[in-house]
Amino acid sequence: MATADIIPVGLGELDLVADLYNQVFAPPRDADSLRRRFEGRRNILILIAQLERRPVGFLTGMELKPDTHFGWLCGVLSDYRRAGIASQLLEAHLAWARDQGGYELLRFECYNRHRPMLHTAITHGYNIVGIRWDSQHHDNLVIFEKELSEG
Ligand SMILES: CC(C)(COP(=O)(O)OP(=O)(O)OC[C@H]1O[C@@H](n2cnc3c(N)ncnc32)[C@H](O)[C@@H]1OP(=O)(O)O)[C@@H](O)C(=O)NCCC(=O)NCCS
Repeated sequence: MATADIIPVGLGELDLVADLYNQVFAPPRDADSLRRRFEGRRNILILIAQLERRPVGFLTGMELKPDTHFGWLCGVLSDYRRAGIASQLLEAHLAWARDQGGYELLRFECYNRHRPMLHTAITHGYNIVGIRWDSQHHDNLVIFEKELSEG
């Protein structure tokens, strides 16, 4: 396992997040489209994973409702996968949510085709709580939740 520095950053770092996003996901998004998604949201969380000061992964999230924090995006650059980077991001998200007080659940959604994330979620004790049809992308999203009271 590679021990990463997990660094919380603010909305001022959305250019960096967009850069990482575009190395992991397609089609590309710019910082403004990410900013738009966060607009008006409470408790925005942006975590950057760094190895020797090089950003190699990220996780973003926001409050979904008073008892649930939503992990919106998580990605790790392909050269750095299977080294525990996403695990450290997910653990940091969990620790952060517990510190906030008031949250009972973490939730995220993942396309069925994003197999590594399905594996990662299961490994980290998330439960599958549902599936919803994403009519914009014509694909199913698997809905995962984890109770903060669980280990
Ligand atoms: C999903 C993703 C974030 C995982 O990142 P990662 O840093 O490689 O994950 P970790 O190394 O922390 O893996 C933790 C555990 O999850 C499971 N896992 C992760 N990737 C896996 C894969 N490709 N196949 C099987 N199991 C996998 C394993 O149990 C792994 O532990 P192990 O390596 O000790 O066996 C990364 O593959 C990624 O960025 N994928 C593309 C983006 C994406 O699909 N994001 C999710 C949609 S929001």
